[in-house]
Amino acid sequence: MNSFDFYNPVKILFGEGKIDQLAQEVPVNAIVLMTYGGGSIKKNGIYDKVLSALKGYKVVEFGGIEPNPRFETLMNAVTVVNAEKITFLLAVGGGSVLDGTKFIAAASLFKGDPWDILKRGAKVEKALPIGTILTLPATGSEMNSGGVITRESTKEKLVFGSPLLFPKFSILDPTTTYSLPKNQLANGIVDAFIHTTEQYLTYPSNSPIQDRYAESILKTLIEIAPHVLADTDDYQARANFMWSCTMALNGLIGAGVPTDWATHMIGHVLTAFFGLDHGVTLAIVLPALLREMKDDKREKLLQYGRNVWGIENGTEDNRIDEAIIRTASFFNSLGVKTKLSAYGITSDQLAPIFERFQTRQWKLGERKNITANRIELILRSAL
Ligand code: NZQ
Ligand code: ZN
Repeated sequence: MNSFDFYNPVKILFGEGKIDQLAQEVPVNAIVLMTYGGGSIKKNGIYDKVLSALKGYKVVEFGGIEPNPRFETLMNAVTVVNAEKITFLLAVGGGSVLDGTKFIAAASLFKGDPWDILKRGAKVEKALPIGTILTLPATGSEMNSGGVITRESTKEKLVFGSPLLFPKFSILDPTTTYSLPKNQLANGIVDAFIHTTEQYLTYPSNSPIQDRYAESILKTLIEIAPHVLADTDDYQARANFMWSCTMALNGLIGAGVPTDWATHMIGHVLTAFFGLDHGVTLAIVLPALLREMKDDKREKLLQYGRNVWGIENGTEDNRIDEAIIRTASFFNSLGVKTKLSAYGITSDQLAPIFERFQTRQWKLGERKNITANRIELILRSAL
């Protein structure tokens, strides 16, 4: 196991009805900016519940944070924060609202151009405190300190993070997920699954605790997926789904082990260029990446095949191929397609993406050997 520092101060309030406890968590006398997305919380009643739990507080609203939140929109929120002298941010929504709110928290107190936080990785020295109410299990943003923001004008989707951006608390009420459409539930399952593989499908590092945690998240997601997607509102399935997503990206399974993240870095560019949902991009990239990186990941792919999918028989190569096929079939079974062509994307349209990676010269993956040329091979095989 590698050495590591682990720090996660987020208080989790988990279960049905936990929104009622909101006022115990928001500082007394806070001036609250409540942030949300395109309006789902108004349709499913969460908006009313939150406002009634915040009775007695001064609450200002900022709605309209879009999926794959945009820098341009968030800078409008920063103007509101300054004008209204906001002291606390409350994000109510999915990963996009949470990430966007983390960016508002950092940008509002940033000296200089907040774009530098994304473009140059400028250090966040101060941030407003944040609380969250999660309505879409997927990203883990509710219990981590990072986010991903898109700049529309330059088609860039970039990551940022700081220990100052951990939420003070996150409320996870599985019943908030009942109004989610099937495709968003499926995206969430894929996202949590691939957060886990990014921290597990690398090379052995003698870390059985992390490996077995990772395998338990993957197996739980596979087991509950049909119940999550079934039409009935199955509380237990939604609760286990929500907790799997949080556990997949709160730092625990990645502590002390090599991590990959290439699928995410390639996926972000696909979203920036084609507007594909985050989960969809991951489902397209992962199987192709595993095929390309099969030799580097050989031992962990065999372990994954055995412990997650029960694949015991056949040559090593057969078992690895089978594990990759089972992975793609799992995504397909959720209604998420795993080929670019299924979304009407042709090889000609990939040219600017190849160009971007050639310019960036990033070396991705746990061995830093996924270069621009390799990314081209991966994406071509995902067509
Ligand atoms: O905007 P509203 O009207 O709320 O609708 C949203 C949105 O259209 C809807 N939705 C959310 N909760 C709902 C609901 N609809 C009905 N009922 C509910 N309870 O779902 C749509 C998608 O929401 P979004 O927040 O965009 O989805 P998700 O949670 O998948 O977040 C994706 C974003 O998170 C980033 C992604 O890159 C992407 O920008 N990620 C953040 C990470 C992190 N902070 O650690 C890691 C991830 O890998 C990921 O990159
Ligand atoms: Zn993700």
